[in-house]
Amino acid sequence: MTASPYDLVIRGGTIGTATGSFVADVAIAGEAIAVVGIDLPQGAREIDATGKLVLPGGIDSHAHVEQVSAAGLLNADTFESATTSAAFGGNTTLICFAAQHRGHDLRKVVDDYAKLARRGAIIDYAFHLIVANPDRKTIETDLPALLGEGHASVKVFMTYDLIKIDDEPLLDVLLAARQNGALVCVHAENHGMISWLGKRLVARGYTAPKYHSISHPRGSEAEAFNRLITAAALIDQPIMIFHVSTAEGAAVIRQARGQGLKVFAETCPQYLFLTRHDLDKPEFEGAKWMCSPPVRDASDQEALWQALALGDLQTVTSDHAPYRFDESGKFASGPNPNFKQIPSGLPGLETRLPLLFDALVSKGRPEFAVRGLEAFVELTATAPARLYNLPRKGAIQPGHDADIAIWDPKRVVTITDAAMHDRTGFTPFAGRTVTGWPERVIRRGEEIVGDATLKGAPGSGRWIARTGGAAAEPTGRLAADVDPARNFGADVLGT
Ligand code: URP
Ligand code: ZN
Ligand code: ZN
Repeated sequence: MTASPYDLVIRGGTIGTATGSFVADVAIAGEAIAVVGIDLPQGAREIDATGKLVLPGGIDSHAHVEQVSAAGLLNADTFESATTSAAFGGNTTLICFAAQHRGHDLRKVVDDYAKLARRGAIIDYAFHLIVANPDRKTIETDLPALLGEGHASVKVFMTYDLIKIDDEPLLDVLLAARQNGALVCVHAENHGMISWLGKRLVARGYTAPKYHSISHPRGSEAEAFNRLITAAALIDQPIMIFHVSTAEGAAVIRQARGQGLKVFAETCPQYLFLTRHDLDKPEFEGAKWMCSPPVRDASDQEALWQALALGDLQTVTSDHAPYRFDESGKFASGPNPNFKQIPSGLPGLETRLPLLFDALVSKGRPEFAVRGLEAFVELTATAPARLYNLPRKGAIQPGHDADIAIWDPKRVVTITDAAMHDRTGFTPFAGRTVTGWPERVIRRGEEIVGDATLKGAPGSGRWIARTGGAAAEPTGRLAADVDPARNFGADVLGT
């Protein structure tokens, strides 16, 4: 008997793609998908996927893992625990943050972070490079070199006291990214408004977690989006706006995209499923629902779903930022913190896909009419692969990495704190019941989750070197102020 050319055949499932679904077999040879077809020959191993959905493994392109905050607080997850949780939630790729803080050397930050990832990661990963110390060495030497070595995206903050950068260094980062073909991802909120309002709330005794939800004024998001978009348009640099939370913010993005600007944007499950009333709980309980920007109102949820359906927002990420409900996390500054002293962030690696699947596929959000499954695949795998230039990821097709999640679309699960595999100890989605759950997860041909068991080994996840790709390419339309053809010949950008 001749050996099978295929190491694994997933047989008879419904293959989900961003444009349609069909029943077929998927044959895997080594780490890659070899063939998608019907009645494929026997594989060395077979999985019967009859009645199941065979979907691309999720790509979570915004998660904070084993990261030290600007205040010096290490978050609760290691690469091992975070990627275990992500894998149980149907993900096979993660983009997390090599985070520079003030005074830090970016090259060393990336090297140290890469060591942690190599030791622990179970799924594949890439880094966004956080720049919080935009000095000449960072901008002119380290950033260009690192971008050239396969780290193709930068992240900056326009708020948070210790890591925010102002408008001028923001332009420096945007220009460095333009010159090196990278995408710039931004946490965009107006710092002054948040700081001013937060101080006044605390000074007047409004210190409970629920006041966090109003301490980031709604307009601070739209204002920062406008300022950021104007800066990016000045030098024609593509941007990705992180975690859009308000209807007004989504409207700003719609307008910019309507003008042909290369503005991409994401939102997160917390902004689609939670509201500020979730923070209104006794004592400090509301801290479990604290993230920045804060969760908003039901009307914002509706606007965000619509923005996703219209393509104004292209992806949904977790913004996993795990702080435990104890002295290592939410109470790191003491047992009676005011909301300004409580670290912002909530976990979400494991719940992102099931929550979205339930809303888009099982319940069928009306904005997506009959294309809920396609939208789910697009928003959670195919679009992030395209935006972050992961050409072997995000789709089930020959030549792609065999990154596959096999979903039971009928399985009903009530989310609980105890069922989560990360180290936060709680989930803000506890008590919600969803229909549809990933039951087997395959990363580059290897089953890493199956039979409710982790099978992948820590360290088996691989770093993915990327270039910026199409999303990061400028449009070719400079603002007149910096265009030598229209500004009396001044070569401001050194082009
Ligand atoms: O509250 C959040 N999202 N914490 C993580 C850091 C960030 O702003 O993305
Ligand atoms: Zn952020
Ligand atoms: Zn974040």
